[in-house]
Amino acid sequence: MRSDLPPAPPFGAALPLAASPETLRFLALRRSVSAVALVGPGPDAGQLSDLLRLATRVPDHGKLAPWRFIVLDGADKVAFAGGLEGLARDRNDPLLAGKLAKLKAPPLAVAVISSPKPGAIPEWEQLLSAGAVCTSLVTAALAMGFGANWITDWYSYDSEATAILGLGSAERVAGFVMIGTPKEPPQERERPVLDPLVTRWSR
Ligand SMILES: Cc1cc2nc3c(=O)[nH]c(=O)nc-3n(C[C@H](O)[C@H](O)[C@H](O)COP(=O)(O)O)c2cc1C
Repeated sequence: MRSDLPPAPPFGAALPLAASPETLRFLALRRSVSAVALVGPGPDAGQLSDLLRLATRVPDHGKLAPWRFIVLDGADKVAFAGGLEGLARDRNDPLLAGKLAKLKAPPLAVAVISSPKPGAIPEWEQLLSAGAVCTSLVTAALAMGFGANWITDWYSYDSEATAILGLGSAERVAGFVMIGTPKEPPQERERPVLDPLVTRWSR
C-alpha cells in the first residue's frame, strides 16, 4: 500500500509555499525511537519507495545527488548482521557483537551512503547533503507513523564491514536509518538550552 502522497511534481511545476502548522507541531514533538525498541511491521514496498523519494528532497549544491541508499531487510539483513557477527568473532570482541542489537531488532535498515562526486563542489558540502538525507529519512518515517533512528556504530567505520556492505573506495556510511514500529512511545530526551548556542553578530 502506498502512503497518501502527491506524486513527484514534474520539473518546473509551480509548488505551494503555504504555512503548515501541522508540520510545525510535528517538528516540535518529533522524537527518534531507540533502535532496539523497533519491531515489525516496517514500511511495505510502496511506503519505502515514498520514504526514499522524500529523503532525496534535500538541499544538494550542484544537483550532484552525492548519496545513495542500500536497503537491508528480511533474510538479507540477517545475513549482513551475520557477516558483522563473524568480524566481531574474528576479533574476539563481544562488545562489537552486542552493538549489533540495534541492527538486528528493526525490520528495516536503510544505509545512507555518502558518494561524493569529483568537481567544483566541496566534499564537505556533499557530506552535509548526505546528512540532510538521513535527517529527512528519519523525519519522513516518523511522519508516516513509524519509529526511526539514525545509527552509525562501529560497522559504519570499519573497512571490512563497509566492504561487506559494498561501498566504493570514495564512499562512506552517513548513517543506518533503522525503521520499524515502536514497541512503546518514546520519551523526551534532554535538549540543549538555546541561549548559549545563539549569538548575534554585530559591528
Ligand atoms: C551521525 C549520527 C550518528 C549516530 N549514531 C548513533 C549510534 O551509533 N548509536 C546511537 O545509539 N545513537 C546514535 N546517534 C544518535 C541517535 O540518532 C539519537 O537517538 C538521536 O539523536 C535522538 O535524537 P532525536 O530524538 O532528537 O531525533 C547518532 C546520531 C547522529 C546524528
